[in-house]
Amino acid sequence: METEVVVIEEKKIDEKARDNLKRAGKIIRDGGLVAFPTETVYGLGGDALNPMSSKKIYAAKGRPSDNPLIVHVANMDDLAAIVQEVPDAARKLADAFWPGPLTMIMNKNKKVPYETTGGLDTVAIRMPNNEIALELIRQSGGYIAAPSANTSGRPSPTVARYCVEDLSGKIEMIIDGGQVGIGLESTIVDLTSQVPMILRPGYITAKMLEDVLGEISIDKTIIDSSSTERPKAPGMKYRHYAPKGDLMIVQGSQSQVVDYINGKTKDAEASGKRVGVIATDETKSLYQAHIVKSVGNREDESTIAHELFKVLREFDDENVDVMFSESFDDSGIGQAIMNRLLKAAGHHIIVL
Ligand code: TXA
Ligand code: MG
Repeated sequence: METEVVVIEEKKIDEKARDNLKRAGKIIRDGGLVAFPTETVYGLGGDALNPMSSKKIYAAKGRPSDNPLIVHVANMDDLAAIVQEVPDAARKLADAFWPGPLTMIMNKNKKVPYETTGGLDTVAIRMPNNEIALELIRQSGGYIAAPSANTSGRPSPTVARYCVEDLSGKIEMIIDGGQVGIGLESTIVDLTSQVPMILRPGYITAKMLEDVLGEISIDKTIIDSSSTERPKAPGMKYRHYAPKGDLMIVQGSQSQVVDYINGKTKDAEASGKRVGVIATDETKSLYQAHIVKSVGNREDESTIAHELFKVLREFDDENVDVMFSESFDDSGIGQAIMNRLLKAAGHHIIVL
């Protein structure tokens, strides 16, 4: 299959862009697949109410079919039409955070096929905060099932060129809307449990949810990397976001971390390996490895969220064998950053 790539600027949706979005919407209504930007990461979209489309999504990603998809909507009435009821908590959270990087899990009704929910009676729903995504949803009939637009197991794409790398030839269209704003996938909160529970940390933090809802719990497999329990979001059990080289996270004081990584770099480079270091603006100049990249600024951790997946992909492009990364605070957006980094590293972390 030939994959068409169209460029659309979110801030400049002119007539040509609108035509392209109409065509993209028709592809989805006809059962085809389109990759598109959201504010979190790129999504691989198909008609959420068409079981064949969901099957195609799993096939294009090489994703296990017990891993449910998120349904993207553009308004509250469309949400109400596919769930048994809209819980009070969902209305409050939607008021506060939609459109935005928050996915809510509710009890589905018959309209949503089990192919989309991986066999579950619940459905994950979000309203993305991106004009291209919202217009595409409207043009597609209201419901787009969209996992991140990467091959299963690879870092989620935050720029269109990585959708092209993973999905070219497998889907009808890729919409290039530039680099996404946030860079990590949405926060997922389950509203079917007695106390709402965070199943995947993201830009919307536990504190922000608590401020709206009062009590909140967190799936403990997220915080405790040694937990052997099954995560409640099926997708969280898979090794994810994995770069091709080996990645190790190093935790300690700044000077301990720098000394340790420089020592390990020397050893690895002496044995002929290509080494990459994931540093920060504050520390970039202190490392001696062949390839050192800053992932952002510790003063503003959202810069780190924004660049993390891109930096992991860039190390793949440069065929790095071994990577060392600094560690981040496990609070605020840092919790989502560490969650993704630990998965990328297969939980390989050295505490000095
Ligand atoms: O930011 C995002 O959420 C992006 C963009 C494209 O919207 N999408 C995304 O989808 O990250 P994906 O498929 O890569 O991750 C969806 C996660 C998986 O871990 C899946 O297991 C979980 O959501 N999930 C989906 N439906 C669920 C359900 N009914 N119950 C529990 N977990 C669910
Ligand atoms: Mg994903």
